[in-house]
Amino acid sequence: MTESKVVLITGAAKRIGASIARTFHSNGYKILIHAKNSMLEAKNLCSEFNRVKKNTAVALCADFDSQSETIELANTALSYFGRIDVLINNASMFYPTPLIEAKPTDWDSLFNSNVKAAFFLSQALYPELTKRHGSIINIVDAHVDKPLQNHVLYNMAKSALKSMTKTLSLEMAPRVRVNGISPGAILWPEDLEQKDNEETQSIQKEILDSIPMKRIGSAEDISNLAYFFAENGQYITGQIIKVDGGRSLS
Ligand SMILES: NC(=O)c1ccc[n+]([C@@H]2O[C@H](COP(=O)([O-])OP(=O)(O)OC[C@H]3O[C@@H](n4cnc5c(N)ncnc54)[C@H](OP(=O)(O)O)[C@@H]3O)[C@@H](O)[C@H]2O)c1
Repeated sequence: MTESKVVLITGAAKRIGASIARTFHSNGYKILIHAKNSMLEAKNLCSEFNRVKKNTAVALCADFDSQSETIELANTALSYFGRIDVLINNASMFYPTPLIEAKPTDWDSLFNSNVKAAFFLSQALYPELTKRHGSIINIVDAHVDKPLQNHVLYNMAKSALKSMTKTLSLEMAPRVRVNGISPGAILWPEDLEQKDNEETQSIQKEILDSIPMKRIGSAEDISNLAYFFAENGQYITGQIIKVDGGRSLS
């Protein structure tokens, strides 16, 4: 029997990351679920997977504001199932930083979570991914090409992630493919989801009106493409695909 492949997904306890984990698990992958604050949700997700098939998922904790925790995550993740075939850099902080209010701590928080950890995880796992002919999938944002107002640090961090995707695809070829997915409006930010007032409804309406497909996407729209990149896109590298219902054209 062939050994199962293994995927490490950062920020995977909930939302889009959890959907990516479900898609890979239902297709036979073993799952390394990284989380920071959401370890309870991560462990529950692992239990769900391990009930379907024993010893196929584990939750690992790391704060990407700590360089040592980031590197330790790569090492622990690799030792757990003894292999890693796919790294999915999904973790992210997202909040506005208007120019006059932005602080160095915001710079650190937004860059650490959106790009620095992705870089150092890619570096640490490069030898293993090379051995496995593996791939890296970076979750970017459709806004990198159409900046979101008042989010300069987030936009800059995601733009760096886009640039990293293209640059590393050259450096890691031919053994490792590196691709990106740029979601549009897929899930409302958690703070917006919790409020149900007129202001929230008007923000949501404005966004929906700007999407040619007139609806937000689903987490599965992202996870299906991630799985495609990992398993079917064997001649695709250095590409960043927008999944935004056409919003970037409008
Ligand atoms: N939602 C959308 O519509 C949308 C649109 C465009 C782009 N995206 C991109 O798609 C990806 C997934 O989106 P999402 O909305 O599902 O993400 P999310 O819920 O905003 O964040 C995913 C996870 O990132 C982790 N994280 C944040 N800071 C961290 C840190 N310092 N160290 C370690 N982990 C950290 C958190 O883990 P814990 O909860 O465990 O702390 C969080 O659950 C993100 O890269 C996002 O930028 C999403």
